[in-house]
Amino acid sequence: MRALLSVSLFALVGPLLPAQGPAGAKVDFLTEVVPIFKARCFECHGPKEQEGGLRLDTKAGLFVADEKARTVRPGQAAKSPLVQRIELPKDDPDVMPAEGGPLTKAQIAVIRRWIDQGAVWPDGADKAIAALIAGSAAGKAKPSESALPTLPMPAGAQKEAEQRAFAAIRKAGGVALRVAADTGACEVNLSLVGDKLTPEVLGQLEALAATLVRLDLSRTKAGDDALQVVGKLGQLRWLNLARTAVTDRGLSAVANLKHLGYLNLYGTGVTDVGLQQVRGLAALRKLYVWGSKVTESGAAALRKACPKLRVDRGESAVALASVVVAPKTGPINTQCAVSPTKSVAAGKEVVYEGQRIGFCCDKCKAAFLHNPGKFLPGLRGFLHAKGSVAANKSCPVSGKPVAGSATEAPFRSPFRGKVIGFCCAKCKAAFDKEPERFLPKLTDVFGAPASPAKPGKPVKPGKPVKPGKTKKVL
Ligand code: HEC
Repeated sequence: MRALLSVSLFALVGPLLPAQGPAGAKVDFLTEVVPIFKARCFECHGPKEQEGGLRLDTKAGLFVADEKARTVRPGQAAKSPLVQRIELPKDDPDVMPAEGGPLTKAQIAVIRRWIDQGAVWPDGADKAIAALIAGSAAGKAKPSESALPTLPMPAGAQKEAEQRAFAAIRKAGGVALRVAADTGACEVNLSLVGDKLTPEVLGQLEALAATLVRLDLSRTKAGDDALQVVGKLGQLRWLNLARTAVTDRGLSAVANLKHLGYLNLYGTGVTDVGLQQVRGLAALRKLYVWGSKVTESGAAALRKACPKLRVDRGESAVALASVVVAPKTGPINTQCAVSPTKSVAAGKEVVYEGQRIGFCCDKCKAAFLHNPGKFLPGLRGFLHAKGSVAANKSCPVSGKPVAGSATEAPFRSPFRGKVIGFCCAKCKAAFDKEPERFLPKLTDVFGAPASPAKPGKPVKPGKPVKPGKTKKVL
């Protein structure tokens, strides 16, 4: 009778008691912990960014080889740095998440219990998380861009060849990834390899012909010969050749890519003649030719021939955002974006609006992330993706008219709270190096130069960029 009573009492009361400590109900990592990480952490500690060197979406990322550096100590929630960070008061500069307010008590309790119970990371969780992240990214992307093919997962010899190619690409400094856990489709980004790209590395792409759907060769020294390899990648959907040595001659190889939906030829030597080659690409929806030799009439002719194709000669900020990417060698600034008297320290950087920005320490980095709009106007070299109407009509370096339309900014430098426009990237670079030299040409903006200019002086925000607007990537 007593046994019966206690059993029924437990049945009644058990589930109502809050689970506490390791003895509480077993936490299910994938359905209880991962949703918290996904909602509040992966944005900065996931596939795109690993702030503070921490990655929370993979087992290897959390349980790094150096045990002392681990932020989670299985069985010891209270001693885990991760728990200490999420339990800091909400006004502490070190509290995590770094944006959007602290976790709720219930969320913290789940993470604590998971760690006290041994911080189990089940087999296959990495894959499930990758799919979750890819799924939500795809959900937010425009339909045309999210329609990635479900290609068969490579097996056997093909898989081995692929793994070898991935390894060689990564060794060269490139990125090679599967786009989602449930498809064989993969992507490669070699733009960071820059002018160190060799024919051997390019040749590795051939092993990926059956699965490669996205390829970024921008700012590498890839030329027409490289396109011979690219032409064999019949599954490509997205191809970025911005600022490469590609010309009309090489483009004929691209004409075979029947799935290609996006092609970026920004800053290449391609002309109206070369554009003829893409007319046969039935799947092509976006073509960026800004800064190439394509003329307005050439673009208009192509638009007429291919009504579904958007030919962009620089009208779009999207084109800009995709090509004004972080320079391969480091941040755009040498002095900390928050404390301009200090130099940028190695590895203390964030990528914001596609541009790599450096800091002297993690505190400054966190301060920037908290309110980028406060610091961007003083950051020379930063290009606003949109809304940057140049204050000047003619290029202060060459005297030619400022390039681009009124509202979008192909070549702009924020300087002393004003947005200065240029006719080309060369002039912008010359200005950024030594702006004072060109001040006499900017009397319409700043008036006659009375006293010597103070470079790098923080200026009043012109049009602050709202924090968080462009950072949310998942
Ligand atoms: C908006 C970006 C952002 C978000 C969101 C964010 N963090 Fe961070 N996190 C940072 C930055 C920046 C650093 C490095 C500077 C520092 O240590 O404060 C960092 C550092 C950390 C560190 C210290 C590094 C280490 O290895 O111990 C931990 C732990 C951490 N974050 C945990 C989390 C957790 C858990 C979440 C989600 C609940 C989270 N963060 C969400 C930006 C973020």
